[in-house]
Amino acid sequence: MNIAVIGSGGREHSICYKLKQSNKINRLYCIPGNAGTSEISENIEIDPNDFEKIYQTVLKKKIDLLIVGPEIPLVNGIVDFFEKKKIKIFGPNKKASQIEGSKIFMKEFCEEFNIPSAKFKKIKNINQAKDIIKDFELPIVVKSDGLASGKGVTICNSRKKAIEEIDKILKGKFKTSKKVIIEEFLKGEEASYFVISDGNNFVPIGTAQDHKRIGENDTGLNTGGMGAYSPSYLINNEIEKKIKNKIITPTINGMRKKGYPFKGILYAGLMIYNSEPKLIEYNIRFGDPECQILMMRLRNDLLNLILSSVNNNLKKEKLIWTNEPGITVVAASKGYPEKFEKNYEITNIKKIKFNSKRQLFHAGTIKKNNKILSNGGRVLNATVVSSSLSKARKIALDILNKIKFKNKYFRKDIGYKVIDR
Ligand code: AMP
Ligand code: GLY
Repeated sequence: MNIAVIGSGGREHSICYKLKQSNKINRLYCIPGNAGTSEISENIEIDPNDFEKIYQTVLKKKIDLLIVGPEIPLVNGIVDFFEKKKIKIFGPNKKASQIEGSKIFMKEFCEEFNIPSAKFKKIKNINQAKDIIKDFELPIVVKSDGLASGKGVTICNSRKKAIEEIDKILKGKFKTSKKVIIEEFLKGEEASYFVISDGNNFVPIGTAQDHKRIGENDTGLNTGGMGAYSPSYLINNEIEKKIKNKIITPTINGMRKKGYPFKGILYAGLMIYNSEPKLIEYNIRFGDPECQILMMRLRNDLLNLILSSVNNNLKKEKLIWTNEPGITVVAASKGYPEKFEKNYEITNIKKIKFNSKRQLFHAGTIKKNNKILSNGGRVLNATVVSSSLSKARKIALDILNKIKFKNKYFRKDIGYKVIDR
């Protein structure tokens, strides 16, 4: 088969890496990809949101299947567009994508199907907000309804701050939506749970924990993710059963009942407290950088799994994992997630030996005149599987120490809650 992966991050590089192991692949493309994907696939420079242009390429290159990495094209209806054209595509359609694309949809869905989640209220206007927040204990969580690249959530320690934040969102702080909700603050520890679904059945496809904050000890601004490890040490068999029974099964069944069967990767962001999981949010795709480790720990043919979601016959898939844990550490450009500089040459990659247990996945990189340059906030992901998380982290940090580029920044404490406890 000829396949194109859509996206340009570390997630998409790791998906390409994993797909390359399938003997069903004839040609592999990445749209638009990065310097890393260009080594193992053919990059095609098209904006992932330009569906018509992608379609022209699909015809020209005889692409049989599209695999979508990021959420924005999914929320914008890329699956509906290609299904109409009778082109196979992996991911949820526009209606099903609302479960990430609209927090209001997601919260009302949880209410309708009794899925454990934080208490919430929709805000209609600032006066009603002032009234409602009296009933919420501090801290109060204020959330923008639409996609906000991880910037849509503010945890407010005073009612005054909550009102200020609500006011900003109502006045258009985020382009995707002026709607806003408030939520009760959930105590506990976070974990991510991934499943693949064909709309009827689902198969768990790994657990992980990411570190979203820019600074060590989880301090500073929120980012897309500065590192992650898998599996999550929080999810034992008992908790997993609860996650499946109380959260995932009612979601897959509920989405089908509403007429929006969920096909693709469903990523549940969970809060676990006293062995009880609650849903914080849903994402409609693999996490980045969580995906990078899952792709190195998974033993199955990823393409077979994806095809069984696309072709509605997921039931018989059994997943096989390495017993060893994995970690990924992100090297970013200093200043990220705010202002940062790019176009710095990245050197020394060729001096490092990579294999099936240690890989370097590229995110914001670009090839120019045979040089690899930094081209984004998150630049590289050192991803390592080893007999212990602590060994894996040491190897990942060694890799990132050896690689040079100006303004390189990475956290050295990824996994600290497990490794250093
Ligand atoms: P989200 O964009 O929904 O993933 O939220 C970003 C982060 O905000 C989450 O990973 C949590 O750390 C935190 N968060 C969101 N909602 C809540 C909540 N109701 N209670 C506590 N923390 C939350
Ligand atoms: N790493 C968090 C996310 O992909 O949403």
